[in-house]
Amino acid sequence: MKRYFAILLVALFATIPVFIGSVQAISFQPQTSGSTETPSAPSPEVLIQGAILYDRWYAALGREAPAGDMPIWSRQSTNSRSGPDTWRCVECHGWDYKGSQGAYKSGSHFTGFPNIRALVPNMSEQEIVDHLKGSKDPAHNFSAYMDDATLEKLASFLKNGLIDDDQYIDDVSLKVVGGNIEHGKQLYGQVCAKCHGSDGMQIVFHTEGVDEYLGSVASRDPWRFLHRTRFGVAGADMPVGAKLGWTAEDGRDVLAYAQTLPSRLVTPSPKPASAYATPVSPVGGPPASSILGGVFTGFGSILLVCLGSLVFLGLLVGIGALVVSVLRKR
Ligand code: HEC
Ligand code: HEC
Repeated sequence: MKRYFAILLVALFATIPVFIGSVQAISFQPQTSGSTETPSAPSPEVLIQGAILYDRWYAALGREAPAGDMPIWSRQSTNSRSGPDTWRCVECHGWDYKGSQGAYKSGSHFTGFPNIRALVPNMSEQEIVDHLKGSKDPAHNFSAYMDDATLEKLASFLKNGLIDDDQYIDDVSLKVVGGNIEHGKQLYGQVCAKCHGSDGMQIVFHTEGVDEYLGSVASRDPWRFLHRTRFGVAGADMPVGAKLGWTAEDGRDVLAYAQTLPSRLVTPSPKPASAYATPVSPVGGPPASSILGGVFTGFGSILLVCLGSLVFLGLLVGIGALVVSVLRKR
């Protein structure tokens, strides 16, 4: 009798990890994008390079920005930045590519420069390249800094890489609309937590004199978050959505999850950030700092619960057996 109980218990213990493992394996299946690509669609590499050029072309090319301000910059006076930033496509046309009609329609980034997401569909790639060489406006001429092949990557990105993120972001609250936070959390744990930490605070970004984290970028500038999650950042060796085969919705879900991460903005100070942070002791130990850690933490807690209930069951069975044997003896 006892032996059977023992065998049963051992069998139960042996199958539980297998069962949990299979559930994890199912949910960790890589997400593949729908094959909406046309035969002539450019490779992800071209889009990635074009997008990084749009972000900060001189850094993407490993160079310094040209001296002074971009010539067109003096046509506006609302955006007080100067120097390298004024040469970036994104500073004039925005992370949503909508310039004066998008997120930069007000605030410190406002310039009044045009919405190219509306203009580009009516242009051919050649017309975009020509425009970047000053065909229409001699001041909008980048040919002294970028060769034709580079300008073509920019044009290809603008023609093929722009996604209408307005469908995903509420432009007042800046919150994701209709995202799947659980799915985003899963993708984040798989790919991003390794470097950015499970709380998004492992890498600190120094943005215009402010230290910020992934959570604050996601909450403050969701369009920038999406652009850089899809295509990356010049100089950062980071796995990006365009290479992982993520759909636009995968990116949106990761953004939705990232908006739940801590977004504490810390002004620069000689003191370490932790000096004025009130220490919190999260339930279940400190947050895991790696994917593996995260998996083990989750795994551990599930196992603990299972073990707990098994011990309870075992006790019940034991008491039952005791009672039976006592009754039998009588
Ligand atoms: C200093 C601000 C500024 C920067 C930097 C800038 N643009 Fe523009 N862009 C403009 C303005 C203003 C226009 C409106 C037409 C014009 O004057 O050329 C424009 C127009 C455009 C157009 C639409 C052309 C048309 O026919 O209407 C495209 C496409 C474009 N820019 C792409 C880019 C790209 C790509 C970059 C980065 C390499 C870039 N821009 C950098 C200000 C800027
Ligand atoms: C191999 C390490 C690594 C991984 C993995 C990684 N990143 Fe990054 N990430 C970086 C580095 C390095 C930077 C650039 C930091 C800087 O510019 O100071 C960065 C920057 C970013 C930025 C730009 C923030 C800003 O200031 O605008 C975003 C957004 C971002 N990562 C999101 C993600 C997401 C989402 C994932 C998961 C898909 C991910 N990262 C995975 C290393 C990584």
